[in-house]
Amino acid sequence: MLPMQQARLLLPDRPIGRITINGHHYLYATKAGTSGRDAVVLLRTASSVRAESRPFWLALAAAGGLGCLLAAAVAAMLARSIARPVLRVARASSRLAVGHDPEVLPLAGPRELRGLADSFNTMAGQLARARDAERSFLLSVSHELKTPLTAIRGYSEALDEGVLTPERAVKVIRTEAARLERLITDLINLARLDQQRFEIHPVTLDLAEIARESATRHAARARELGVRIKLQQGQRAPARADPDRLLQAVSNLVENALRCTPPGGTVTLVTTPGQLTVKDTGPGIAPDEIPHAFDRFFLYRRYNGDRAVGTGLGLAIVRELAQAMGGDAHVAASSTGAQFAICLPLPESENENDALHAFTES
Ligand SMILES: Nc1ncnc2c1ncn2[C@@H]1O[C@H](COP(=O)(O)OP(=O)(O)O)[C@@H](O)[C@H]1O
Ligand SMILES: [Mg+2]
Repeated sequence: MLPMQQARLLLPDRPIGRITINGHHYLYATKAGTSGRDAVVLLRTASSVRAESRPFWLALAAAGGLGCLLAAAVAAMLARSIARPVLRVARASSRLAVGHDPEVLPLAGPRELRGLADSFNTMAGQLARARDAERSFLLSVSHELKTPLTAIRGYSEALDEGVLTPERAVKVIRTEAARLERLITDLINLARLDQQRFEIHPVTLDLAEIARESATRHAARARELGVRIKLQQGQRAPARADPDRLLQAVSNLVENALRCTPPGGTVTLVTTPGQLTVKDTGPGIAPDEIPHAFDRFFLYRRYNGDRAVGTGLGLAIVRELAQAMGGDAHVAASSTGAQFAICLPLPESENENDALHAFTES
């Protein structure tokens, strides 16, 4: 405690601060006494304050350093836990790209990474199925190409050796050559559809006219097989489609139906707006085979007993043509027959319905 006057002489006006007395540095704090005539002055050497606060700064620095190390370690662990599944996906993609069978990735980690692994698994599954389908397609194609060629070679050799009458050999050779020609045409059509190189010119047309045209074209064959072709048409059945491509698809369905229907049966072409259905009174298709009915060669190998006609690609072409025109193809079957339907987009405006294009043969 110092008298106020002395304290004023000794210390600057500020209540706290730093002063130098006789070359020594001090920290001070002052407070006026209650009487106002004296003041309380606290003095400490600056060096003692520094010495006292040093452990505090050291502790602070150590804690900071430790904190940084810990944060770095946690960040590294986190980065690794995120990077590991991403690396797994990258490795699996590379394996897939070089043609190995895809591995199923575990669904673990944060939601986004689980989503990534799930999408990869889905994609890998689809790719595996597509590869299998391609392999079995190639096998079927090779088989279907080889069979008629073997027959042609066998019969021409027999002809050469004089074992067969020329009439009989020529008949078989001609039939098998025609089969080869059809198969190659179908393959070219499918390849074009795959590459979307098929030109589709959709117009607004009446499906009833397409049905009539198809019935006319198949009338002779129906008579030959003893099957009746019936048309079931209400009012007009407008749709948007390419008439030539549609007739190609419908002809395939009618030809199949005629072939599969026993003599005395009926093939009916039903037309409603946007849909043309070919019904028959044949054996139908087994329910478990319906989902694959439009797959290339799928039904062919099951039902093709006498190999009288066909390539096994017709239904696949029907579906791809329908899809190329913005529609689709469906099948339903019971023990009393099969129904194949082609669904097509409807004309956009009512006005278009009034300007229905008649089918004109190209
Ligand atoms: N309406 C049908 N009823 C029963 N089976 C059918 C019918 N349509 C097609 N199939 C079966 O599906 C097979 C494949 O038909 P498709 O793909 O058109 O080839 P293709 O006519 O060249 O044999 C046919 O060979 C036949 O066995
Ligand atoms: Mg067919």
